Amino acid sequence: MASNSKNDVMEKIVSLAKRKGFVFQSSEIYGGLNGCYDYGPLGVELLRNIKEAWWKEMTLREDIEGLDASILMHPKTWEASGHVENFTDPMVDCKKCKSRYRVDILAEQISKKNLSKIVKAIAPALYEAAKDNADLKSILSVDGDTSEEYITTLSKKADDEIFSMQVINFALITPALASLALKEIVCPNCGTKGEFTEARQFNLMFKTFIGPLEESSNAIFIRPETAQGIYLNFLNVRESARQKLPFGIAQIGKAFRNEINTKNFLFRTREFEQMEMQFFVKPGDDEKWFDYWKEIRYNWFIRYGLKKEKMKFLLPDKLAHYAKAAADIEYEFPFGWGEIEGIHNRTDFDLKRHTEFSGKKMEYYDEQTKERFIPYVIETSAGASRSFLAFLVDAYEEQELKKENSDGTTSSEIRVVMHLHPALAPIKAAVFPLVNRDGMPELAHKITADLRKNFNVFYDESGAVGRRYRRQDENGTPYCITVDTQTLEDNTVTIRDRDTMEQIRLPIDQIRNFLMDKVLI
Ligand code: GAP
Repeated sequence: MASNSKNDVMEKIVSLAKRKGFVFQSSEIYGGLNGCYDYGPLGVELLRNIKEAWWKEMTLREDIEGLDASILMHPKTWEASGHVENFTDPMVDCKKCKSRYRVDILAEQISKKNLSKIVKAIAPALYEAAKDNADLKSILSVDGDTSEEYITTLSKKADDEIFSMQVINFALITPALASLALKEIVCPNCGTKGEFTEARQFNLMFKTFIGPLEESSNAIFIRPETAQGIYLNFLNVRESARQKLPFGIAQIGKAFRNEINTKNFLFRTREFEQMEMQFFVKPGDDEKWFDYWKEIRYNWFIRYGLKKEKMKFLLPDKLAHYAKAAADIEYEFPFGWGEIEGIHNRTDFDLKRHTEFSGKKMEYYDEQTKERFIPYVIETSAGASRSFLAFLVDAYEEQELKKENSDGTTSSEIRVVMHLHPALAPIKAAVFPLVNRDGMPELAHKITADLRKNFNVFYDESGAVGRRYRRQDENGTPYCITVDTQTLEDNTVTIRDRDTMEQIRLPIDQIRNFLMDKVLI
């Protein structure tokens, strides 16, 4: 790739996404709506292909059923799931400019020098608070017989950036320390020091009203994850599909979160799509299935083209309120590593809670062992939109091509190419007449119409053929089919491979099978 900083690469991808019709900012003509995006003509195809690849992988097997539950659910769903109580982030507002910050994001924006300064400034209060706060004591892990010794050691440790960040994060959500810490922090937006409100819990669920009256008894939430629709239908699906454990339920759908800090293009948005599967197992078998699904899901991303060296598992330090174990599949985006899918061992948490809140027993009766129990759940939860971003970023390449000029000198040009997996590529093939005469356009139109019965195919006759190739390279079209003089003689066409730029000749009647082999999901 031509030398680019990581920021440049992201900027170029965002710009290509707009220019080529992959992704547009929502409501752009009104100045845009933060955290919401629209998928254009190429984007919608890529997104559909990603979802189709996931759906086929997950549901074309005996032990998984599909579901499409409604986005709006009974409000008790979210009390039972723990989202009303726990799906919150601590937030502070700058009193001067009214900017709102998630506490951990605010801490991230403090310079290294100031981090240690803040810890030193609040060291006496930390010493006092640690006396009866075991968590803080363990974070500080400082010994000292006298308060002076303790504070001196603590102040020395404060030069360690990670240590100070952890201490400040903790202080910001601890009532006895928060106002002291906030006094030392500068607003990243307006530069005012120490003018923040205290941290308050902010729920990330969108609320609306069902029916004509906007009163609290009619308030409902717009789902922040698709998983709950699956739990609510556990008994319906098991009975109607006559499934036995272990079995899963898969669903693709929109989810909504009132994220405070939307960032990095499609990575963290307020409206996004999830591809989730809940696999119900006998308690005791959960760890085995957790490992199984980790591997299957990781390999799916590799199979559809993500580079192995850009992927890793992360075992998060902090588990969600429902999880006994979790493994995040992370991808290295130009802005850093980020989760694209979470595999969670949710135990019997959700089914148990829905049993408590609904009064309906979410149990399974094992006919062989004559046991009745609440199944454990292994969840695979991928973002369709985040996967889209990962596939888009991973596919992007700038190649420097050298060419010999007629006067003997050499020059170079940059070829931008999207190496999307052929099964995911929005357009499967482009068909060109080499020139716009001698019956070539008519034949190329005929080939296009014929292939369109099965594939998304694009016809293009404008400009030099080299430019047409370049346009398709940017679209990620894996094959370009050209009708040339030889076609008129022997009914063969050239097929050019996007990645290698090599061409082969193939009889027209073999193109369909050629494409079938390469592009079917
Ligand atoms: N049901 C479990 C669950 O929702 P999560 O880790 O909160 O778990 C799962 O979300 C996946 O959904 C993430 O790995 C990510 O791909 C996607 N996701 C979550 N929040 C998102 C957001 N604000 N924007 C885009 N994708 C998001």
